Amino acid sequence: MAKIDTKTEGLDLYVHVAKTFADSPWLHYGLWEPGERPNIPQLRMAQERYVDLLLSLIPPAPKRLVDIGGGTGEMAKLLLDKGYVVDMVTPSHIQAEIARDKLGANGRVFETKFEDFSEAGPYDVCLFSESFQYVDLDVSLEKLGQILAPGGRIVIADCFRDEAYQGDRQPGGGHRYSLFLERIAAHGFEIDKDHDVTAAAAQTMAVDQQVYRGFVAPLADQVISLLRARRPILAWIANGLYKLFVPRTERENIIARLKADYRSPEAFERVNTYRFLSLKRRNDD
Ligand SMILES: C[S@@+](CC[C@H](N)C(=O)[O-])C[C@H]1O[C@@H](n2cnc3c(N)ncnc32)[C@H](O)[C@@H]1O
Repeated sequence: MAKIDTKTEGLDLYVHVAKTFADSPWLHYGLWEPGERPNIPQLRMAQERYVDLLLSLIPPAPKRLVDIGGGTGEMAKLLLDKGYVVDMVTPSHIQAEIARDKLGANGRVFETKFEDFSEAGPYDVCLFSESFQYVDLDVSLEKLGQILAPGGRIVIADCFRDEAYQGDRQPGGGHRYSLFLERIAAHGFEIDKDHDVTAAAAQTMAVDQQVYRGFVAPLADQVISLLRARRPILAWIANGLYKLFVPRTERENIIARLKADYRSPEAFERVNTYRFLSLKRRNDD
């Protein structure tokens, strides 16, 4: 049986957390104004600022667009309503089901990793809303070269590691930005538009800390203590299964996440750069 990968399974869990606590269909960071106090009830508003900035980078409809790593289809729905022809890609069965319900017959949902996506396009816009960090850099850039229509744009909003990142446990993630710049150039692309929103996105870490410290960690503690006290044999079996199916490095990640000490906005800002980018082929307009 396959081991559990908390990076991708965690996103499926987050679909429910975001919906329940922030009434939000979005799975991406929020953008916070200077002086704003980030909190869970305000998260959706901050995430919608993110959507507005993203929309400002997408060439106007009508266009053929593929939303890669489209989550539960919220952006795809919004773009359909604006007159785009939209396909969506996600490897998650849970997300694909929700998206199919939302889009009906109007948009196609492909349940696959982008690396295995076999549609030829062409697409005028290839969109990654906080999903570029999950895809293989070279495989994806090669595929983008094949499916992007002449004059088309690749729009990416995502976190990248900057030079200060030394490979240790830190909040954020993504491809190393210097490597990304090198690889897009090697695949014949260049940056058309670039917004650095690192400081505005970093504040989302404060919300993340609140969720883990204020809710997830105490809940996990309480469930484990109850189980140990009332059903010791079941607790012993559950512990054994957990160790069997969740690799040790993932278990260490989970413990560090629950404590959330290292997941501060300041730490995020130190080692990441969060960019909204539009890319084009080097020789296109
Ligand atoms: C942080 S969520 C962002 C979801 C949505 N775009 C949004 O802005 O709310 C990352 C998305 O990338 C998807 N994803 C993960 N690995 C992927 C891959 N290899 N190819 C395509 N999508 C992937 C996840 O399933 C999820 O839909």
